[in-house]
Amino acid sequence: MKPINIGLMGVGTVGGGTAVVLKRNADEISRRAGREIRLFMAANRDLVRAREAVGPEVELVDDAFAIVNHPDVDIVVELIGGDTIAKDLVLQAIANGKHVVTANKKLLALHGNEIFARAQEKGVMVAFEAAVAGGIPIIKALREGLSANRIEWIAGIINGTSNFILTEMREKGSGFAEVLAEAQRLGYAEADPTFDVEGHDAGHKLTIMASIAFGIPMNFEHCYLEGISQLQGRDIKYAEELGYRVKLLGLTRHTEAGVELRVHPTLIPESRLIANVNGVMNAVLAKGDAIGPTLYYGAGAGALPTASAVVADIVDVTRLLTADPEHRVPHLAFQPDQLKDLRILPM
Ligand code: NDP
Ligand code: HSE
Repeated sequence: MKPINIGLMGVGTVGGGTAVVLKRNADEISRRAGREIRLFMAANRDLVRAREAVGPEVELVDDAFAIVNHPDVDIVVELIGGDTIAKDLVLQAIANGKHVVTANKKLLALHGNEIFARAQEKGVMVAFEAAVAGGIPIIKALREGLSANRIEWIAGIINGTSNFILTEMREKGSGFAEVLAEAQRLGYAEADPTFDVEGHDAGHKLTIMASIAFGIPMNFEHCYLEGISQLQGRDIKYAEELGYRVKLLGLTRHTEAGVELRVHPTLIPESRLIANVNGVMNAVLAKGDAIGPTLYYGAGAGALPTASAVVADIVDVTRLLTADPEHRVPHLAFQPDQLKDLRILPM
């Protein structure tokens, strides 16, 4: 059988990690996918850095449109970020009948409704496990593992950079700006780190989880956002003296009144498991009516943990290529007919 050709767009932190994982675990990945998976082509602005990451055998270009328009690329992996060129590339890829894997939560939270609609029309998959909580397979858990449940609420630490900053401020008394610079150096932060520290990134992820859990469209504009940039060392210290930890939480609930989406710093008693999620680690609690509360924990950012989720999506999409398009799971976040009675609570 012909190999599945991957076109990788963006060879930065996550793209570089994806190239490493695809190469390092090539045999296991291809065996699990049932087909050989081959990194066929890559695009990046800085070609010298990208060449080091992908190796000599991969065709390397600086124009990512060459990937989405290449007839031999089967799965396009978008790891550029943002919602300008990334949006054009993803829509063009879909129009060309290519399946898409992306880690881009901003793109999906803001434009997911259009992207999923186009994908559905073309019968292609858009998979996005890496867009929420880094390496934790939370999308799969919400969509497949909890599919027997009515999900009541989700709450989580879903921004690794903020959690890293809050942890370093509490444990070492470090200053906010100094720890943020370290998070950037480690590749955890967004290209514009205000998205991390002002709660936007967590809001994007919460929007995606709510869409899957409650079967609603992306509703980022209804998400209340408050970040950690106004917190000072003494806030964290006083909280600790009272037996609490400060965590940036994303929370969404589905009640009879409607759906609520909010991100803000929260005081959590230090005896709670989630209060002890430190550094770049993320944790998501989801309550289903049958199973009760469940907890998912793991690295929320960084090259290899995020690549783990990207490559898992590549495997999933490859497996599903043989399925009837009607029964392919990953790209569908909601069904339009589920929406008529739903109310999104105002902020
Ligand atoms: P980086 O900035 O490290 O990588 C982005 C890469 O895209 C860079 O190498 C950049 O090249 C390249 N690029 C930018 N514009 C173009 C273009 N027009 N054509 C070709 N290449 C381009 O970002 P990350 O890897 O951190 O993030 C990528 C995506 O993954 C984002 O959507 C982010 O939100 C998401 N994500 C990131 C995580 C993380 O831990 N970092 C975790 C989960 C998701 P150059 O450097 O030469 O400009
Ligand atoms: N900037 C993001 C974070 C990357 O810190 O969580 C992972 O989505």
